[in-house]
Parts: sequence; structure tokens; C-alpha cells
Amino acid sequence: MLLWREKIPADWLPKVMQHLPEVLVDHAHLERKAATTALNLEKYRDLYPRVDDLNAIAIEELQHFQLVLNLLRRRKIEFGQPFPSAWISGLMRAIRNGTRQQVIDHLICCSLIEGRSCEKFQILAHALQEVDAELAGFYAGLVESEGNHYATYILMARALDDAETDRRLDFFLDLDAQLMREPNSAPILH
Ligand SMILES: [Fe+2]
Ligand SMILES: [Fe+2]
Repeated sequence: MLLWREKIPADWLPKVMQHLPEVLVDHAHLERKAATTALNLEKYRDLYPRVDDLNAIAIEELQHFQLVLNLLRRRKIEFGQPFPSAWISGLMRAIRNGTRQQVIDHLICCSLIEGRSCEKFQILAHALQEVDAELAGFYAGLVESEGNHYATYILMARALDDAETDRRLDFFLDLDAQLMREPNSAPILH
């Protein structure tokens, strides 16, 4: 796993635990966006040879989306509007335009989002054990899949240009750290 340069803020877990219904709605949208993002990556010529891998991720994310929707339904939580995430948009805004460099940046961003999700799901699974066993199991069950997505995206970038991926990863890890320090009181995962 990545060597993050900033820890998840101490107020993140209490905030999420206090707003579980809203967080679940946000999580549903995250999975939906993860599915569409995998499909969007297929627009890059550099990734045409990876279209099967990207489809596999899109299918998994769509399955995750459906799992969260089922959970919402069982808990009588209404599916609502997504909340914007300053962390995600901050990362995405730093993607450079152009062919190869845009693909590498986009893959690194996706990888960091998957990596942070993986890390946060692990924390949540642990914290929920005593209070909500079903939800704890649900989050624990997603950890491996999101970890695999993290690895797949970073390896896709490395396969295109290893040195450039290292350079940009250095940049994006600093950006992640900077964005993580921004106050974020919204009832969202990221
Ligand atoms: Fe997912
Ligand atoms: Fe994922």
C-alpha cells in the first residue's frame, strides 16, 4: 500500500459515525462514479489494450453500487443527491491536459481515490464491529476489491511510463496531503 504523507484527520471517523445514513448515500454515489470512471478511462488510446481490465473494474464497482443501494433500501434510507468532495475535485483539477500525461495523471488520481477508500473502509469496518455488525462486515468485504483497484490503476500508469508515474505520484501525494489538511465537515467519505 502507499506511503501516505498525511494521516486521515482525527475528526474524520467521529464525523462519519455520526452521519452513517448520509455517508451511505455518499458511498452509493462514490461506487457509481467509480464505475463510470473506469469506463471513462477507456476513451484513452493508450488504454485500449486494457479495456477488458477496465470493464472488469466497472462491473465490480457497479456491483458495489448495487450492494450499497440494497443496504439503503433495507435500512429505509432514501437515495438522494451526491455531496461534492473538495478532496476528489482538488485531485482531479490537477490532471494535466494532453495525451500520455493526462492518462497517467488520471490513473494516479483513480489509484489514490481507491487507496484512500480502501484505507477508510478498513478503519470503518473496525470501528463498526461493536455498533453495527452488518455494516462492519459490509465494509470489511469491500477492502480487498478497492485495494486491487488501487494496485491495478497504479500498475497501468507504470506500464505506460514508470519514471513519469513516480514523478507524478510524488506530486499527487503532496497534493493529497495538502487537501487532507483542509477542514471537511460534510457527511461524506472523502
Ligand atoms: Fe467499489
Ligand atoms: Fe474501487
